[in-house]
This record gives sequence, structure tokens and C-alpha cells, in this order.
Amino acid sequence: PEYDLLVLNGLVVTDNETGEFDIAVKDGKIAEVVPRGSLKAHTASKTIDAEGGMVMPGGVDAHVHLDEPPLFGKGATADNYETGTRSAICGGTTTLITFAPQAKNQPSLLACLEATHARARDNCYSDYSFHLICSNAGPQAISEFAGLRAAGISSLKIYMTYEALQLKDSEILDVLFEARKQQIVTMIHAENGAIIDWTIKKLEEKKLFAPKYHVTSHPPVAEIEATYRAISLSDFIDVPILIVHVSSPSAAQHINDAQRRGLPVYAETCPQYLFLTRKDLDKPGFEGAKCVCSPPPREGEQDHEGIWQGIENGTFTVLSSDHCPFLFDNHEIGKKTSITAEHPNGHFRYIPNGCPGVETRLSLALSAHRLQLQKFVEVTSTNAAKLYGLYPKKGALVPGVSDADLTIWYPEGMKEFTLKNEMLHHNVDYTPYEGKTLKQWPRYTVLRGEVVWAKDEGGLLGKKGYGQFLKRGVSSLAGSRSKEEWNVEDF
Ligand code: URP
Ligand code: ZN
Ligand code: ZN
Ligand code: ZN
Repeated sequence: PEYDLLVLNGLVVTDNETGEFDIAVKDGKIAEVVPRGSLKAHTASKTIDAEGGMVMPGGVDAHVHLDEPPLFGKGATADNYETGTRSAICGGTTTLITFAPQAKNQPSLLACLEATHARARDNCYSDYSFHLICSNAGPQAISEFAGLRAAGISSLKIYMTYEALQLKDSEILDVLFEARKQQIVTMIHAENGAIIDWTIKKLEEKKLFAPKYHVTSHPPVAEIEATYRAISLSDFIDVPILIVHVSSPSAAQHINDAQRRGLPVYAETCPQYLFLTRKDLDKPGFEGAKCVCSPPPREGEQDHEGIWQGIENGTFTVLSSDHCPFLFDNHEIGKKTSITAEHPNGHFRYIPNGCPGVETRLSLALSAHRLQLQKFVEVTSTNAAKLYGLYPKKGALVPGVSDADLTIWYPEGMKEFTLKNEMLHHNVDYTPYEGKTLKQWPRYTVLRGEVVWAKDEGGLLGKKGYGQFLKRGVSSLAGSRSKEEWNVEDF
């Protein structure tokens, strides 16, 4: 046969084009994207009839926590590289960028990178890369940025909160200064740690421990202040940053203002800030713990609306999952119930922060019928590939260049269904979206030409170990405004 795979009769949607195209795949790459019907005379080992359903570049999820040790002091993540990447492909995501965490007592980033490679190697169903989490920005770590680039890592994450991870502003400047030299994108968790710790103390004095007080202890002002501070530090050094998991429309407004001033400030939001609210944490017993993440879900529809508008108007570059899985119960450490001898009814402060969602990200966002289809592809696949140096290998369908990674949806008219955790492939005992009505689910996922998920024809078909590590280059989105070296005398 001439081709390995043909995908016929689809409505092909990329970030910049929509049309009735047929796709041919050879040796794991996109070989042809041509008007419907033009591949009739060609032979292939396998053919998928998309029956008019949408065909998109495979999802790229650039914010996923897998097999992380209990860095926040609250337990290890429930998914490892096997279960997390498995869950990803069953939900239409073919590439993950996960985190390689560095603890404060570890001076070397390269050692942390090696340790994370060992956890992922031969275990992945999806393709993958890592962002380094830098929580010790000492001289050794800073001196290793060039080595990270040589190892195919072009992004870092830093924290402005969490005692175990938080950097001081002077350390953030050290990171940004070297990131500028090495063309590294710095992702920033922007919450003011002092405001959060102070508010937690005030709540404890009043013996308020229920899960809903997690929201109270992470007020919008903590996010807004830190976001503006992060923008200011990036402006000073003239270096691109991405503010991760933005939940507050007012924080998004600061980001939008910075973008209008021409600063290379990017932003990410997540499904939890489009579909969950404070009410989801205010449920009988400990149920609310299932939706504890930081920043927390906000008040209600107005906040959701502000975040949707931020996606539509380009303030948000990417829609990632921030999949950070913890078991609700039946686990010694990291369980969401957070029951201790001292707090037999649990205490919000000890609930590990994070929600699972790598498998539901695409379906939730598409089922909402809110975004233009090309915008949907842009924020769930293409922009992550561009920002983190994977484009156009990932996030695109360029013949001869792009990997044959595809998410193929049901033709319009798929019956609505009710989401249940038992349908998912992660290693978590709940989903925050249990009972939600969904209108779409990936029918097929294709990774480098192999069908790894076929919902009605065997489900999970991919193999552990098929997923490859992706060496990344520099971002193809706008970087530092000036190409000159940064000089303190210039200020
Ligand atoms: O609550 C969250 N987001 N947990 C994951 C860790 C992080 O800060 O991204
Ligand atoms: Zn974070
Ligand atoms: Zn809503
Ligand atoms: Zn995260």
C-alpha cells in the first residue's frame, strides 16, 4: 500500500483553516491533506471513515502533574506516567508536557530532569516533554539553564506561593535574567503566599476547617497582586512569561493590559475555571475536597464568562488541564479527605491542591459549544506547541512536517451522555465533573499514525512505551522585545 492510514470524509479543523479534506499518513507523518475525494485511487493499510466528523491535530496539554513526590507536603500524585498518559490518549490528547520537580534541598535541575526521565521512560502512551519546576534558584540551578536547553527543555515553572516551592522576588529576577539569555519561557504560579497564609491563620482562629474555606483562604486579590507583580518583573527583565492557571477575570485584565502594551506576557486557563464554582466546594461532608485546587474555582457564572471572553479575545494563549490527581479516599498519603488525629473531620489546609482532568479537558470545552472551532484548536493544541517549541511537529497538519497526531470526533448528532468516573482511564477515584452532560467525545485518537484510541472498536488500543520524549526548541511566539543584552545601566 502507498499509505499507512487514510482518514476520509472528515471536516478538518486546524487553528487557521476548516474544510472537507482527506488525510493520508505515511511513516508516522502527515503525507497529504487534500480536498475530499481526491485520495480515492490510493491504497492504504488502514482507512478511517470520519463520516463528516471533525478531524483536528491531536490535543497538546502543557500542564500535567504525574508521578510527583509530595512536594507540597500533602501527598504524592495518584497518576504515574503510565496511567496519566493512558488517560490522555483516551480523551484525545496526544502530547503532554508534565513537570520535573526540584525540591528546595536539591541544588541541581539537571539531576531532577534525569530522575523524571527515569520515571517516564518506557511508561508512556502519549508523547511527552517536561517543564522543570525550579524551587531552588541557587547558583548551580541557574548555571544549568544552558544544559537544560541542550537537553531539549525550553520552559520552567516557578511559584510565588507554597512554602516548599516559593521563590523570593530577587530569586525570580535571577531566574528571569538567565531565562532571557537562554530563550527559556518561564511559567509562573502567581498567588501571593503571604496573603494566603495570613488568611488561613484567621480562619483557623475561628475554627473554620471545611473544604469551602479553601476558597476563602485564596482570595482573588492574592492572584491579582501576584499576577501584576509577575508582569512587572517580566517587564523589567524584558522576557516572556506565562501566567499559569488563571482563575480571576481581574487577573486576566492585568494580563490583557500588559499584552496591549506589547509585552510578551502569555496566560493559561483551565476547565476548572470554566465549569466549577465556589459552590462545588460547599457540599455536605468532605465532598467539596474533590474540587480543591489553587487558585480555587471562583464565585459563579460572571467569572466563567470573564474567562471564556479571555479565551475568545486572545488573552489566554492555552487551555490546559492542570491535571494534578489525588485520591479522594483509600490512600494513606495525599488523600483528599485530609483526616488527621488532630482534625478528625478534616481541615481544608491539609487537602492536597489539584484536580484530575487530562482526559476530560477537550470534551468539556468542545461540549460547551462556546468557542469557534479554530479557536478551540488554537488553545487546546496549536498554541501550546508554538509557545513551548514543538510547532509544527505538533499542533499542526503540515504535510511532510507534522506528526500524524489526530483527534477525530463523532459526526454532529452523537447522543448526549452523562459523564461517570468509571468511563475514565486515570488512577483517580473521582472526577470533579461527575454527572455532567457531554455532547462530544473523541471517537478516535491517532498518535504518529497509530490508532491508539477507538471508542467503539476496542477503546484503548495504544501501548505503554509507544510514547516518545520530545526534545523541544525555542518558542515560536514573540519573545523579548529587544535583542540587545540586558544592561542595568540602561534603566
Ligand atoms: O491546585 C493545583 N493547581 N495543584 C497543582 C499544582 C500547581 O500549582 O499547579
Ligand atoms: Zn501552579
Ligand atoms: Zn459556568
Ligand atoms: Zn499545576
